[in-house]
Amino acid sequence: MALRLGDIAPDFEQDSSEGRIRFHEWLGNGWGVLFSHPADFTPVCTTELGLTAKLKDEFAKRNVKAIALSVDPVESHLGWIQDINDTQGCQVNFPILADADRKVSELYDMIHPNANETLTVRSLFVIDPNKKVRLIITYPASTGRNFNEILRVIDSLQLTDKYSVATPGNWQQGEDVVIVPSLKDEEVIKQKFPKGYKAIRPYLRMTPQPDKQQ
Ligand code: BEZ
Repeated sequence: MALRLGDIAPDFEQDSSEGRIRFHEWLGNGWGVLFSHPADFTPVCTTELGLTAKLKDEFAKRNVKAIALSVDPVESHLGWIQDINDTQGCQVNFPILADADRKVSELYDMIHPNANETLTVRSLFVIDPNKKVRLIITYPASTGRNFNEILRVIDSLQLTDKYSVATPGNWQQGEDVVIVPSLKDEEVIKQKFPKGYKAIRPYLRMTPQPDKQQ
């Protein structure tokens, strides 16, 4: 059955460009981004992996480890990584799973036979420190992902885990957020949001991002 939000990310053991990976052990106590690619030595994937490498500090700031996957063997990955480094001006600094036997691709439903019978689509999973799946995005092979959007969602998840807020459409770091509708008690709201809030409608209450300096 396909994975859903809130499910525990399935554990696995698989080869990678950085050796054998036991997934849950590799994740440790932080967040993870697992993302698949149709194949090695393909142009869009090459740019995506370059972008991910260049965002290393942004991922690290959020305590997130990235791990890629494609259904090619380790030797192919190692050759491709050299190409990625050369063409994208980066150092690939995260493992690429070598899922030649498609064990992980099948476990995570990354092959969509009506799109392509053998190759993985661009699946992406964000996994939290409890190993729960918190975001699932699927892109077609022909469209490269927007990794700033992945970081934006991780920011939202980490913020909304900590405070009783949700983030509005197109929200960016530092912008106002909404108070969750389940919070009704005005005294509790005042206590939780000392910067104040604006009730545009009883169900639409905006407040400054709680963890930002004003
Ligand atoms: C690519 O990664 O460049 C790609 C892969 C499959 C189809 C089209 C593009």
